[in-house]
Amino acid sequence: MLQIEVKNVFKSFKDVKAVRGISLTIESGEFAALLGPNGAGKTTLVEMMHGLKKPDSGEIFIQGKTWQKQEHELRKIIGLSLQETRFAEKLTIYETLRLFASFFELGDKRVNEVIELTALQSKQHAMTGTLSGGQRQRLALAVALLNQPEILFLDEPTTGLDPNSRQDLWHILKSLKDQSKTTLILTTHYMEEAESLCDHIIIVDEGQIIKEGKLDDLLDENSRNLDELFINLTGRTINN
Ligand SMILES: Nc1ncnc2c1ncn2[C@@H]1O[C@H](COP(=O)(O)OP(=O)(O)O)[C@@H](O)[C@H]1O
Ligand SMILES: [Mg+2]
Repeated sequence: MLQIEVKNVFKSFKDVKAVRGISLTIESGEFAALLGPNGAGKTTLVEMMHGLKKPDSGEIFIQGKTWQKQEHELRKIIGLSLQETRFAEKLTIYETLRLFASFFELGDKRVNEVIELTALQSKQHAMTGTLSGGQRQRLALAVALLNQPEILFLDEPTTGLDPNSRQDLWHILKSLKDQSKTTLILTTHYMEEAESLCDHIIIVDEGQIIKEGKLDDLLDENSRNLDELFINLTGRTINN
C-alpha cells in the first residue's frame, strides 16, 4: 500500500525557494532516506509531509488522506522527531516518556517497552539534562515510537553523534525494521546512514530530487558508492 504520495510540491520562504517541485511515493514498510547537503530542503520537505508546514502549491497524501481534512486521524498514525529536540532538563527519561505517553493515553507498559526498544534501561532514572547526544537522540526516538506509529519521520537522527552512538542508533532502527511494519522516512547528510539503513534513497539538492531509487540500482562502476554518485551528479561533495 502507498503510505505517502507527494505531488509537485513547492515551498518558499520569502525569496528562498526551499522546495522546488518535488514528487515522490513511499510504500508500506519502506525505509526511505532523504539524502542531501545542508540547505537542500530536506527539513522543509519532511515538515510538509508530517503536517507541520503547508506547501505553497502541490499536494501531499498520507495513506490517501490529507492534512487539511484528516489531521486528527493522521496524527494517530505518525511518529516524529524534529531536527533538534529539547527536553525538560530536570525530568528523568522515565518521567519524560510518561508525560508524552499521557498525551496518547498510554500507560507505563508502553513506556517500559520503548525504553527497552531504545536501550535506555540503565539511564531511565537519569535527568535528561545529563544525557549524551546519543542518549538524547535515543530518547527522541523513544518518544516518536510511543504510539506505535505506522509512519515514522526522523530528521537528522544521528547528526553530531560520534561513530559508536551512530551505530547504536542504526542497530535500534534495524531491529525496528525486523520487528514491525513501520515505514520510515529519515533525512540525513551521511551517505553511510542511507546506505546501511534505507532501501529507498532519494537524493535532494537545491530543493529538487536529482536521483532516486534502490541503492543497487543507483550504483555502477562510475558511481561505486553514494558519495561518488553525488559528485558525478553535482560536481560537489555532499558534506562541503
Ligand atoms: N523558516 C525559514 N525561514 C527562511 N528560510 C528558511 C526557513 N526554513 C528553511 N529555510 C531555508 O530553506 C532552505 C532549505 O532549508 P532546509 O529545509 O532546512 O534544508 P535541509 O534540512 O536540507 O538542511 C535553506 O536555504 C534554508 O535557509
Ligand atoms: Mg534539515
